Amino acid sequence: MSYKEKLDLQRIPQHIAIIMDGNGRWAQAKGLSRSMGHQQGVETVYNITEAASNLGVKYLTLYAFSTENWNRPQSEVDALMTLILTHLKENLYMKNNVRLRLIGDIERLPDYVQKTINDCVEHTAKNTGLTQVIALSYSSRWELTKAMKDMAEEVKSGALNPESIDEKTVTEHLNTRFMPDPDLLIRTGGELRISNYLLWQCAYSELYFTPEYWPDFNAESLYKAIYDYQQRERRFGKTGEQVRTEQEG
Ligand code: IPE
Ligand code: IPE
Ligand code: MG
Repeated sequence: MSYKEKLDLQRIPQHIAIIMDGNGRWAQAKGLSRSMGHQQGVETVYNITEAASNLGVKYLTLYAFSTENWNRPQSEVDALMTLILTHLKENLYMKNNVRLRLIGDIERLPDYVQKTINDCVEHTAKNTGLTQVIALSYSSRWELTKAMKDMAEEVKSGALNPESIDEKTVTEHLNTRFMPDPDLLIRTGGELRISNYLLWQCAYSELYFTPEYWPDFNAESLYKAIYDYQQRERRFGKTGEQVRTEQEG
């Protein structure tokens, strides 16, 4: 029986974030080049976006390229940029009513990549289905540092009163200000770490790690992760009893 049939459709996570890891190892295990792994990984992006969209997930945030990934060999960085461009041009977005957004230090990307991205974001802005957020040239520490700098500037200019700064102020200065916090964070590829992803936003996300390499991750893997998520009790610091009383009420 598929995990899909076991899912409680009333409790589908609103926002799923994914660290898409393991492309290189997937390829190497098959005697292929690392970039073949990335290419296959794009197919997984299509499949998972479609599956998540069909379940009614609202936000899918995919870690495609970290700030630290700029330190990879130039040939791999170039191959990834080319691949991202092809992906954005190929446009499954309109077919699935998917809206594209980006987070990250986009200014570090080559101009032609920035242009393609902006065009695609604009082109899909009115779609009303799932919002696919691609984290590109992204890291949490970059994002938080930028937010702190921006807030400091506003304080300096008098636009922001330091006394009034609260968690909401910080959230509103982040690149992710348009989206809710992830309910579920999935990492493929077997590593048990966060690798500088959504550190502020994942404060209360449920974490799910799988040894599957990203190119092997499929719709069924996604249903299994969501099923696992649905077995958990999210307490947000309260007692289990409090949470269950609130649910009944
Ligand atoms: C994830 O796969 C994709 C990116 C980081 C761009 P990797 O390229 O990190 O694959 P592994 O972890 O080396 O197998
Ligand atoms: C995390 O994968 C970043 C992306 C999936 C884009 P990495 O492969 O870069 O992470 P580390 O270096 O193993 O932590
Ligand atoms: Mg990796």
